[in-house]
Amino acid sequence: MALTALEKHERDAAAVLAADAHEFFASGSGDEQALAEAPAAWARYRLRPRVLRDVGTVDLGTTLLGAPVAHPVGVAPVGYLGLAHPDGELAVAAAARESGALYVASTRASTPLEDIAAEAGPWWFQVYVMRNRDLTARLVERAAAAGARALVLTGDTPYVGIKRRVGKQRIAIPDEAFLVNLARHLTGDPGEGRAGAEQDPTATLDAIGWLAGLSGLPVLVKGVLRGDDAVACLDAGAAGVVVSNHGGRQLDRAVPTALALAEVVRAVRERPGPRGTVLVDGGVRSGVDVLVALALGADAVLLGRPVVWGLATGGQAGVVESLTAVRDDLAHAMALAGAAGVGEIDGSLLAADA
Ligand code: FNR
Repeated sequence: MALTALEKHERDAAAVLAADAHEFFASGSGDEQALAEAPAAWARYRLRPRVLRDVGTVDLGTTLLGAPVAHPVGVAPVGYLGLAHPDGELAVAAAARESGALYVASTRASTPLEDIAAEAGPWWFQVYVMRNRDLTARLVERAAAAGARALVLTGDTPYVGIKRRVGKQRIAIPDEAFLVNLARHLTGDPGEGRAGAEQDPTATLDAIGWLAGLSGLPVLVKGVLRGDDAVACLDAGAAGVVVSNHGGRQLDRAVPTALALAEVVRAVRERPGPRGTVLVDGGVRSGVDVLVALALGADAVLLGRPVVWGLATGGQAGVVESLTAVRDDLAHAMALAGAAGVGEIDGSLLAADA
């Protein structure tokens, strides 16, 4: 069950946002089965708490790609946050910094990435391989120059999933908004530019090495739902993967991430060589969800819509509320489970028949 604070933001956001903007953020693809199943799948696990473990102080600190972070609850890349609040990405970046959360900025941000970087604490940059490879390269080089510490290559979006619910009130993203981070690199008419900025459906695993070479940054692949894919990405040079079905917005009936995570973790751990980093997102709505994800072997989780609803209802302060609610609930859940630190969370906390 979602935390009360998150439920309140979700309800309030539906009231304050224009109908088309609300649908843009809330919707999933197809029959929205993947969207609906995501939170319920976390609730399928049962926990085996430890007793009498001195949890007077619970330390949420951990490391991601070798860098310390205050806690393992980050912000997922979400496009067009300007549709949720005038402060958009700037408010989210500042809120993430304020609450010690990793921030992953979207290629489809409604704010120039250099301005986001100026507000952000540690941040990563999400990339699509676009049809115009030169454009992709320029963008990635800018992200690296602006201080992104990693790239998150989204691999599940060769085409954008069809959102049937959006239907009649489908929001039209104007070219200026679509191209806010890209227009300066384009010549020619706006139509041509926009086509070049669409995702390239011919992209392959080769993109991982290409992006790493261009930027000098670690690359994680987002959208992985299978162990063999995770290994293929790591073999191609990825530093890690994000287990994700894009918040139920790409292939409908894609397996819930809560159920795909164990297979991915097992494959990554069995692969010889340095262990890849594994993040997960999709339907994470409480500290207990995060605890389950970490017990399954994730290094961190990302939140998508809870951040959007916080932003829509309260700008930066609303996002801080969402992030700290989940962070504090994680600390509470860890204490009740007998884990005083993230390093004490392991698979033994999960019931075998979960
Ligand atoms: C997304 N997501 C996404 N992912 C990505 O890699 N690049 C993007 O630009 C976007 N844009 C985007 C827009 C909207 C409106 C949503 C809801 C989601 C997917 C996102 O990063 C994440 O995978 C999911 O949102 C996680 O699921 P929850 O937390 O929203 O359930």
